[in-house]
Amino acid sequence: MERKEISKAVISRLPRYYRYLGELIEEGVERISSNELSSRMKVTASQIRQDLNNFGGFGQQGYGYNVKYLYSEIAKILGIDRQHNVIIIGAGNLGQAIANYTNFERRGFVIRGMFDINPKLIGLVIRGIEIRSVDDLETFIRENEIQIAALTIPKTKAPEIADRLVNAGIRAIWNFAHTDLVVPEDVVVENVHLSESLMRLSYRVSSMYDLQEEKKNALK
Ligand code: NAI
Repeated sequence: MERKEISKAVISRLPRYYRYLGELIEEGVERISSNELSSRMKVTASQIRQDLNNFGGFGQQGYGYNVKYLYSEIAKILGIDRQHNVIIIGAGNLGQAIANYTNFERRGFVIRGMFDINPKLIGLVIRGIEIRSVDDLETFIRENEIQIAALTIPKTKAPEIADRLVNAGIRAIWNFAHTDLVVPEDVVVENVHLSESLMRLSYRVSSMYDLQEEKKNALK
């Protein structure tokens, strides 16, 4: 399929479409109109049409969307129609939690190895994945065609490890360390910060609380 520039906002919504379409497939639904999808997803039908029209030719007037086709096209766009080899740097609490989560493999993300500096961890095996010394990082990346590295190490160590990963040929970093990494333009970084998500939640719940207080005061 021809790749045209798709806005970041649309891309950020695709995983959610993908999840709903996957559920529809499990339910045996073969096609769905934008209106039906709209009421399921609580997104306006026009937003759905606008988003999905970006890829052209998925919807047909009066027929709706072919669920399986749309599902596989979105997978292609997201690059999850193929296998990605992943490593985890930092085999502590978070690194092990990620390694123990089996669903990433269903999406094509296969965790090939874990790395740490702690001698007590090196040699342990988590769900079939061996924890290796970080000294073996470069060789392992080259020999195992690793494309993605998850960084679950302290922020002070992250820049040095990121440089090593880039030099070894890694093109994508899934960054959990609380620092902004500086990488060349052809390397992509996706930051995941649960605490930032919590702060956004806190903001929303606080504004709701303020609103309720205001209403209460107005009634007094
Ligand atoms: P942890 O202390 O359990 O694990 C960190 C591991 O990294 C340890 O096993 C340590 O030996 C290893 N390590 C340290 N330097 C290393 C190096 N140069 N190379 C390889 N391994 C190295 O900590 P935890 O709870 O797993 O958190 C890991 C990091 O992730 C922390 O920096 C934490 O702040 C961050 N974090 C981020 C979250 C997010 O949402 N982004 C959520 C939770 C933690």
